[in-house]
Amino acid sequence: MNFSEIVNTRQSCRKFDANKGVDSKLLKKIAEISRLAPSGRNLQSYSVYIAEGDTAKSISEANTSGFNTFMKDCPAFFVIAKKEYEIEMNRDFRDIDIGILSSYITLAATDLGLSTCILGIFDEQKIQNILGTKDEISLVICVGYPADDTIRKKNRKDEKDLLHFV
Ligand SMILES: Cc1cc2nc3c(=O)[nH]c(=O)nc-3n(C[C@H](O)[C@H](O)[C@H](O)COP(=O)(O)O)c2cc1C
Repeated sequence: MNFSEIVNTRQSCRKFDANKGVDSKLLKKIAEISRLAPSGRNLQSYSVYIAEGDTAKSISEANTSGFNTFMKDCPAFFVIAKKEYEIEMNRDFRDIDIGILSSYITLAATDLGLSTCILGIFDEQKIQNILGTKDEISLVICVGYPADDTIRKKNRKDEKDLLHFV
């Protein structure tokens, strides 16, 4: 796939094939590629936990208030936690950096034939306990194979409401 195909193929998967695990080598490849993501001041002030097997099973049960229950069928997760940070010039870039990192993770996964869903809603404390960290968990990214691989039409704002060529 070329870049445009990868971007058009990436979509949030909310129904994973519970019977299909992800090869550890693919997870490692995603981790290696996404490590190259840019970050403000090149600080990379985050930890990336790559969960598979029993750890992933535990994380898959860390949905909250009935949201994102589809996590239960997902075989692997990338969990991104914020690390301590020294703010300079009054700017904390960590959320931006983690957003960029998440793009790299999801696009790299798509390139490898996998499906993903970025999650902002989860039981943070449960995941902290599973991973043995007190660091704030910013995002959880589901990685697996879709139960249905139909590519949906993208629903986005009109160009005129979004893009301003000036
Ligand atoms: C920061 C962030 C948090 C998100 N949290 C959730 C979530 O908790 N549950 C979910 O199903 N989707 C979540 N999404 C996925 C978005 O809903 C999705 O990306 C958006 O609707 C566009 O659809 P697409 O990814 O299929 O193109 C999140 C996406 C981002 C970037």
